[in-house]
Amino acid sequence: MSRTRIAGIGMYVPTNVVTNNDLTKVMDTSDEWIQERTGIKERRYATRFEDTTTTMAVEAAKIAMQRASVTANDIDFIIFATLSPDYYFPGCGVLAQRLLGINDIGALDIRNQCSGFIYALSVADQFIKTGMYKNILLMASETHSYGLDFSTRGRNVSVIFGDGAGAVVLQPTNEDRGILSTHLHSDGNDAELLSMMNPGFHVGKFAAEKRPSTPLHPYGGLFITKELIEKEDIYPYMDGQAVFKKAIMKFPEVIMEALTASGYQPSDINLLIPHQANLRISQMVQHKLKLRDDQVYNNIQKYGNTTAASVPIALCEAWENGKVKDNDLICLAAFGSGFTWGSALLKW
Ligand code: ACO
Repeated sequence: MSRTRIAGIGMYVPTNVVTNNDLTKVMDTSDEWIQERTGIKERRYATRFEDTTTTMAVEAAKIAMQRASVTANDIDFIIFATLSPDYYFPGCGVLAQRLLGINDIGALDIRNQCSGFIYALSVADQFIKTGMYKNILLMASETHSYGLDFSTRGRNVSVIFGDGAGAVVLQPTNEDRGILSTHLHSDGNDAELLSMMNPGFHVGKFAAEKRPSTPLHPYGGLFITKELIEKEDIYPYMDGQAVFKKAIMKFPEVIMEALTASGYQPSDINLLIPHQANLRISQMVQHKLKLRDDQVYNNIQKYGNTTAASVPIALCEAWENGKVKDNDLICLAAFGSGFTWGSALLKW
């Protein structure tokens, strides 16, 4: 059975740079607080009425396709990972398909938040290994800035996130490299601790104590109510400390799982690319696995946390900077809302 390799990779970040000091103009925060707790110095925000999750993904995809020497006609499957889709439905996969002029092949949307790219990579890997597809275009993209609470109330969440996109073209290879294994996990027990529940069809069922009383309508009218908007109950929620604790446990676990599956140990990793959740999380993972600085790639300082897009953006940037070379052992790992987590081990 052949393996799956990344034949081309691309990234796109909006031109609009927003520094921590810029945020102090709209909320009570400081450059010092943000850098100390998260490592973030600046992030990119999409340009209104111009960039969307889909358009940014398409820009990244064009670069990945060009680097893989494929055209729209060669792509035989699309996978799109995001938590900030242009539309509630349909998903961004078909919107990107339209913009790229790709014919009526299948397009699948993945909703696994920060772990979205790893989940998507794993799905693509199965399709390629079985011979079903030969050129899968995988895009991961996020536009957080259109949907965050920029008042002081939302500061613990809003300062962390940024916008951007990454894309890869995946192909089969008979060489002794490519994706060695992928490992996926989830645990829904704490689903609400990192979530954006509204608009949604839950009607407060899973978190009644946190939600306003349900308005009485015989049919419909519950997806997004006036009350939810008035109470500003339409933004992401994060229990930062709970996320932190779980993340620093699950990242090392799932990285070790990937290494063990192929008989490697942490010292064998040429480059670990962790989901850029928070620089402090990456540093703790590095410390726990006893990795040197040159074995871990971080760019959250420049882009903030771009959830599903963070791993392909970091991988692309590392590759462009010559930090990913042929036959290098690369480990990708992510943890996020769900909770979901996963890893992928690759020989480049
Ligand atoms: N600026 C200034 N003060 C702030 C800000 C801000 N942006 N946000 C919160 N504060 C204040 C709080 O109001 C609180 O003030 P108080 O003591 O007067 O009540 C104080 O800072 C401490 O708040 P905590 O929430 O306890 O701060 P904590 O030390 O936990 O840091 C943080 C918050 C950075 C979110 C931290 O919990 C964390 O890193 N958690 C991990 C979560 C994470 O990285 N998520 C990324 C997204 S999820 C993912 O990708 C996996």
